[in-house]
Amino acid sequence: MQCIYPGSFDPITLGHLDIIQRASQAFDCVYVTILLNHKKTYLFSVEERLAMIKKACAHIPNVQACYYDGLLTHFARSKKAQTILRGLRSASDFEFELQMANLNKQLAPEIETYFMATSPDLSYISSTAVRELAMFHADISKYVPISIVEDIQRKF
Ligand code: PNS
Repeated sequence: MQCIYPGSFDPITLGHLDIIQRASQAFDCVYVTILLNHKKTYLFSVEERLAMIKKACAHIPNVQACYYDGLLTHFARSKKAQTILRGLRSASDFEFELQMANLNKQLAPEIETYFMATSPDLSYISSTAVRELAMFHADISKYVPISIVEDIQRKF
């Protein structure tokens, strides 16, 4: 079974990587996919974000980094994936996630959204916090994969 793990990944964090690693044990293939969230503006280009995902996941053979400019359900169908996976860090994440899962279910009833709880020791990490820390030249090495620390720092 294959799953799509969609998100902005601006940039990928250790919280994302935790979900990807655990999903890679449960699914034959995990498509880590950058899609557009029209509520957000991005710091890193799609190419930069893809390169960081590829570096961070290089050690996991059944993970593929992708980008799709369109609806998540269209991409999932094009990959014949029956599952969308989203990580939950806190109860406050849930309202938006439930709305998105219900909308996607309406658009593609054959595709299920699965939620995975982020490991508690990583649940406070967000891409937003990483960008803010990096902007002020703070140490980000506890929050993102070590292989991409310099890529992020270079941006500032
Ligand atoms: O990391 P994010 O920003 O919370 O990810 C949200 C994302 C990109 C997965 C979501 O905005 C998305 O699926 N965008 C693609 C367009 C789409 O399918 N919209 C309908 C479902 S909200």
